[in-house]
Amino acid sequence: MMTKLRILGYGKALAQKPITNDDLSKMVDTNDEWIYSRTGIKSRYVTIDENTSDLGYRASCMAIDDAQINANELDIIIVATMTPDKFTPSVASMIQARLGIENANIYAFDINCACSGFIFALKIAAKLLEPGQKALVIGAETLSKIINWQDRTTCVLFGDGAGAMIVSADENAQSAAFYLHTINDDQQVLFANGISLDSAEQRYGNIQMKGQEVFKFAINAMSEAIIKVLEEADITLDDISLIIPHQANLRIIKAVAKKMNIDLDKFYINLEKYGNTSAASIPLALADANDQQMLGNNKKIIMVGFGAGLSYGACLLQI
Ligand code: ACO
Repeated sequence: MMTKLRILGYGKALAQKPITNDDLSKMVDTNDEWIYSRTGIKSRYVTIDENTSDLGYRASCMAIDDAQINANELDIIIVATMTPDKFTPSVASMIQARLGIENANIYAFDINCACSGFIFALKIAAKLLEPGQKALVIGAETLSKIINWQDRTTCVLFGDGAGAMIVSADENAQSAAFYLHTINDDQQVLFANGISLDSAEQRYGNIQMKGQEVFKFAINAMSEAIIKVLEEADITLDDISLIIPHQANLRIIKAVAKKMNIDLDKFYINLEKYGNTSAASIPLALADANDQQMLGNNKKIIMVGFGAGLSYGACLLQI
């Protein structure tokens, strides 16, 4: 059964330090023309001394203010991240503690589904929320921790940041539709190693990627997820006001638009400023779209993402 979800508030947090393509060209053999024409990215923010929980906490405070609720009204906190501060406790537990929540019913946990994480977290919230309950759903990343800043094929793509959303299960709201899927990454096209058992020298890994394979996967995955979630909701693309895609690469978004014959203006795009912030990218885009008065008035929107796993999914909401 589809859960009826109402969005109560949005929040975002940018990392402190902007890094332009020109800045990167002083660090590796690259240039603004290559990066911009291949990706659509002009700059990204990276952290100086804030960790994932710090960015998530700032985004959460903003979402709580925007929703005009007290943090003690929250029942669930879910953080989607692939770059937690610690193995344990979860980033969500750390944020709960910083918010000083003393609600006897609250529980908090993280999920890792790479760049698709926010959509997966939202689906989990939709399944867990009882009528009248509220969840704080966050996508937060400090990818700069796991980027090899000497590898020009990956370091130009990513940024740090966080986005947050307060959702409630509300009988008077519209049903949310979801489509989630993971396929086998037999060829290891996208990964970052954790602690290695066999090498004390290389305990942690950087993001590694077969860019062109990910590129092809992304176009098919996003197109399929959009079609499936529309089928689930039993409506057509004409009913959709805005598509909020994972902000990885403008060429990927343009290819999806072309393949599906969708006007590019229907896609919300802010990757030029932030780069790919993984699980934070969709909630960051939502917060920006909300700032620009592009949400509300019962518009139907689709959020659609893809990432390591290989995972992908979409959520269709009326907001
Ligand atoms: N600056 C200059 N030259 C570069 C750079 C750079 N930053 N990076 C690579 N090159 C060079 C390559 O070495 C190669 O040179 P060669 O022809 O002499 O060998 C040339 O540029 C072309 O490289 P390609 O990899 O073929 O470039 P492509 O057009 O495929 O673009 C890119 C690469 C941007 C990575 C693209 O493949 C892409 O966006 N893929 C999807 C990546 C993605 O979205 N990943 C995130 C997934 S989400 C998650 O879960 C983390």
